[in-house]
Amino acid sequence: MPATTSIHGQWTTRLAFILAATGSAVGLGNIWRFPYIAGENGGGAFVLVYLGCILLIGLPVMMAEILLGRRGRQSPINTMSALAREEGLTRSWGMIGWIGVLAGFLILSFYSVVAGWSLSYVFKSGTGGFMGLDSDGSESMFSNMLADPEALLAWHTIFMVMTAMVVARGVQSGLEKAVTILMPLLFVMLVVMVGYAMVQGQFLAGLQFLLYPDFSSLSANAVLLAMGQAFFTLSLGMGAIMIYGSYLQSEASIARTSAAVVGADTLVAIMAGLAIFPIVLGAGLSAEQGPGLIFVSLPLAFSDMPGGLYFGTMFFVLLVFAAWTSAISIIEPAVAFLVENMGLSRVMATSWIAIAAWLLGIAALLSLNVWSGYTLFDMGVLDLMDYVTANILLPLGGFLIAIFVGWRMTERSVQSELRMKNPVLYQVWYFLVRFVAPVAILFVFLRAVELI
Ligand code: PHE
Repeated sequence: MPATTSIHGQWTTRLAFILAATGSAVGLGNIWRFPYIAGENGGGAFVLVYLGCILLIGLPVMMAEILLGRRGRQSPINTMSALAREEGLTRSWGMIGWIGVLAGFLILSFYSVVAGWSLSYVFKSGTGGFMGLDSDGSESMFSNMLADPEALLAWHTIFMVMTAMVVARGVQSGLEKAVTILMPLLFVMLVVMVGYAMVQGQFLAGLQFLLYPDFSSLSANAVLLAMGQAFFTLSLGMGAIMIYGSYLQSEASIARTSAAVVGADTLVAIMAGLAIFPIVLGAGLSAEQGPGLIFVSLPLAFSDMPGGLYFGTMFFVLLVFAAWTSAISIIEPAVAFLVENMGLSRVMATSWIAIAAWLLGIAALLSLNVWSGYTLFDMGVLDLMDYVTANILLPLGGFLIAIFVGWRMTERSVQSELRMKNPVLYQVWYFLVRFVAPVAILFVFLRAVELI
């Protein structure tokens, strides 16, 4: 008989789970990564492939991941080996959890650095640093920041401490409390930002850029990037959603909660695009600037817009909140594992994981300046961490999760956890998990390495 609660605690309500999982999903991935990758890959066509991946791979895999977490009620490593044993399979399925922990370390370390940029921009904007900026000025503000390892280290450290402080307090008084305060605020700020972009930017140009598909600009690599972005933005394939699922009440409907989270995340990504592109295009700037997109173009756009000081500051506060509620979910699986297997207190476990990710983050931030000469496949450490996790490790984790749930668990176990009321929708989901998701992931991988 599977356990009904986790030793780490439980969300107080189903809404708390939705807020927490949405908090995990909505992050730098939506507001920083999605717009710049969509911008670099031609906009509309990329967005369409991304939406396809969300619906056909992301949603079914999210349901599978929550199902596993709730059934196992432990950290992903222990959940996977326990469930494998329950099904009479080899415990090496615990590997899914280990891949996730590795991915989590890599993600958190660069994530915290980029969140640090956002923190720094809150202060730059709030102290009037965007005022009277021209395009050279905005570029050099960004590149000066990247060139200054000490400043990057300071912001990275602050963000890591913020994250650890929430996680150390536990599921209800840490994670749940943070998301219940931050998520509604984030949503309100985003609505205000879209309104601002409508009034001050070129809204229709932004809309067209995001929604008008030009498939001629879509490469095989762009399809891989779209799939990677779908995994990254939904926090899938590394155990973050699995551990959040392990704190979910047995009665809650996995299908409905997943749909709510996926819907909210997608809405936020589109809204972020609608807040950013009208401003960028309205100011005559290019959408294809890469990782610096929001950090270079938005300050410039805010610099000569009415209310720019306030809206600019609000935008970067929003970004920090979004990153914060994601970062806590990135370290939770590893923290839970240390508590379970090493008998550490939550505070100690959190400290160790945060310190390890902080150290790794130093390598990421040095790659922007002191180590900028060292690259692999044209990428420095930070870019490499981002590329490898989003485009390889997370889809790989998602692939294994789909195989486990679709092919290795008995359908009886699957059904007893999922308990979907609508038989047709259940069949659709099962088909997506067994066939569509794994085949699509494999196909995109193979295409990207040009094997077929
Ligand atoms: N989903 C988060 C974002 O979009 C990032 C994340 C990835 C969080 C993986 C948890 C796990 O920013």
